[in-house]
Amino acid sequence: MTVRPTRDREQEPRRDPGGAAVEPAAVTGERTAGAWRLSRRWRRAALVLHLLSAGAWFGIDVIVAVLVLTGRFASDVEVRSLAYRALAEFAALPMLLSGLLCLATGLLLGLGGKWGLVRYWWVAVKLALNLLLCVLILVVLQPGMDAVADYGERLLTGSPSSGRVRTLFFPPAVSLSALAFATILAVYKPWGRLRRERGSA
Ligand code: HEM
Repeated sequence: MTVRPTRDREQEPRRDPGGAAVEPAAVTGERTAGAWRLSRRWRRAALVLHLLSAGAWFGIDVIVAVLVLTGRFASDVEVRSLAYRALAEFAALPMLLSGLLCLATGLLLGLGGKWGLVRYWWVAVKLALNLLLCVLILVVLQPGMDAVADYGERLLTGSPSSGRVRTLFFPPAVSLSALAFATILAVYKPWGRLRRERGSA
């Protein structure tokens, strides 16, 4: 009788008695001989950086959401102006850098472990989300920041048209939702493999 691995065993990294993930390729032998993989120490270092960058990214998004809400709803016009100018000055670059660090460490963890980049749905979807968010920061968010700073300055001298800033709720809302979803994917690792690998049938 052939005993097939359970769905969970196939997806979850094995754990040592202390609960730490044991380097998957070493215990499953899934990799072909000579394939590059991270040592346990480097995998842990990459995972720490991955978690820190994802956490920083999430935190920056929360700050952006607070600034957007302050700019829109604060009663003091000086506070509103300051919120928009701070947003224009500080938001996009730290967001992009943490997104790129999250992407780079994610690539390292995927390529250097058993997960791969397009072997499991949860990794492939996270990769797509991370790329999409970084592109949106570069193509949509960053180019609009001059107009936001300008609006912040004009608030002090009159009542400028709020065309551009009205849509500012979307970037933090979309990004926070996508990052929360990516975190859920990382923890639950759902949906299994993209395709069955040879020998696993
Ligand atoms: C979109 C933003 C991302 C967030 C919020 C995120 C979040 C996380 C979290 C919370 C974990 C820890 C899960 C655990 O240990 O149980 C994790 C692990 C992991 N992530 Fe990400 N991630 C992101 C992007 C990526 C990308 C783009 C890739 C691959 C290209 C990736 C690949 C991985 C891999 C392979 C692991 C497992 C590491 C291991 O235990 O060996 N992640 N991620």
